[in-house]
Amino acid sequence: MSLPIIIDCDPGIDDAFSLAMAIASDDLEVLGITTTYGNVGLSHTTTNALRVVDWFGADIPVYSGVDRALLGTPVDASEYHGATGLEAPELGPPSSVPQSEDAVSFLIRTLRVSTRKITIVASGPLTNLAVMLRLAPDVAAKIERIVFMGGSTDYGNDSPAAEFNMLCDPHAAQIILDSDIPTTMFGLNVTHQVIATPERVQMLRSIGNDTGRVFADMSVYFEKVYRERYGFNGSALHDSCTLAWLILPELFETRVMRVDVETNSGLSYGRTVHDIWNIAGKVPRTEVAVHADAEGFFTLLKSLLAKLR
Ligand code: RIB
Ligand code: CA
Repeated sequence: MSLPIIIDCDPGIDDAFSLAMAIASDDLEVLGITTTYGNVGLSHTTTNALRVVDWFGADIPVYSGVDRALLGTPVDASEYHGATGLEAPELGPPSSVPQSEDAVSFLIRTLRVSTRKITIVASGPLTNLAVMLRLAPDVAAKIERIVFMGGSTDYGNDSPAAEFNMLCDPHAAQIILDSDIPTTMFGLNVTHQVIATPERVQMLRSIGNDTGRVFADMSVYFEKVYRERYGFNGSALHDSCTLAWLILPELFETRVMRVDVETNSGLSYGRTVHDIWNIAGKVPRTEVAVHADAEGFFTLLKSLLAKLR
């Protein structure tokens, strides 16, 4: 029985890897893709989600969501992903258009009518999900878990303290963390363990299909900032960790703890604060990934991309 999921994302090169993994996996049933602003503006992220879905010929509806944070000034990550957010010429323009229904309405409608609980995989700012909960608090009972890429138990990437998705909208993230929905967090502390080194990129190329080649090229494009700023030997495929955990949870070690987000302005704005010793005495309900089997991740990634075009 495949797991029903909805992917909320801001494609985004690493988001595109996640979408490919979800499309390839027999363990997951993607009910829809909802897009948010984030890496680049909403128009681009929505177009990019359509480009990926159409290139694979996948029958998955795409719904466009919110175009800005609840509060705060807009940021973007185009320096990592390119001006369009997905510098992958071979994907070409989309052949389809987004659904007329907006993302939040789709989420609420789908959760309300579903006879099964649904897992939401989030790899961008959490604004769509926060608006969903504010408009329809009842749908929380229909959500199995929110698995999100965001935050960190150590340092930030878009500020010294904050990871990009959390920095985009810390208030939205806190709304999710304050809800009673179980969450699983893949922060930079673990996603920076999953580096697409030249050897691993070559392994993707060796698949020998269009997907291996195109996604290897995407990963190489993504490397620029990781090499220059972080001195990494390749790019970090952050978002893909969420899908890998759903498919093969044994690839990651997690610890349950309370996580909150700093919403006050200042040096730590957007930082996730993880209470590993439960000092504040709040209810710990976030599984925080603390270790990744990187080799196992890339073996899974290769096996999934090999199933595609
Ligand atoms: O900090 C990494 C996250 O920000 C990833 O989701 C990446 O796609 C960007 O959105
Ligand atoms: Ca993302």
